[in-house]
Amino acid sequence: MLKVVVMVSGGGTNLQAILDAVQDGKITNTEIVGVISNKKDAYALTRAQQAGIPSVCVSLKDYEGREDFNRALLKAVDSFEPDLVVLAGFLVILPELLVKNYKNRMINIHPALLPSFGGKGYYGLKVHEEVLARGCKVTGATVHFVDEGCDSGPILLQKAVEVKHGDTPEVLQRRVMEEAEWKILPQAIDFIANGKILFEGGHVFLGDSI
Ligand code: GAR
Repeated sequence: MLKVVVMVSGGGTNLQAILDAVQDGKITNTEIVGVISNKKDAYALTRAQQAGIPSVCVSLKDYEGREDFNRALLKAVDSFEPDLVVLAGFLVILPELLVKNYKNRMINIHPALLPSFGGKGYYGLKVHEEVLARGCKVTGATVHFVDEGCDSGPILLQKAVEVKHGDTPEVLQRRVMEEAEWKILPQAIDFIANGKILFEGGHVFLGDSI
């Protein structure tokens, strides 16, 4: 059984997609052992409670400074002894040690087709605003392993989504979630849980391609 911790900051629709996929048997060999939020009022915490998953909030506001917060965050993750950490809308700059200790064991969902519209400052609605400002016709989502950089780790899965005339950032965000994020994040976890991942030359190959 792959033990998974999910880290969140907001509504938690990606967390919900993961919980539903485990429930429906679309993700197998996996147990969601914990949810960690950096926001006390994140609706994702309610979703965790409703699903009977242990959850904890580690908020920067409760600590003297960044170092104390980082230590507490790492301790919270370690306490669940996870095999995999899933960043599902976790909008926090990660402690270096967390990235190092969970190398090749931490994935992130990003709401664009990386390497476009990724890196510092590109998160949440901002990504979709920039996609529309550039007049893109296609966008999408990416699941990637987390490395020391920002949105720069090896890509596992991507799915393209059409940009339509008249889209607002909110409308586009919803389509990207529905058509891409809520599908490829559970799929990536299932691939990892079932050993369908191959690291080769700094890239990841998966599923039927290996
Ligand atoms: C998702 O769209 C996710 O891709 C994005 O935050 C949203 C969280 O929504 N993550 C990033 O922008 C990371 N750079 P959710 O809480 O409803 O899952």
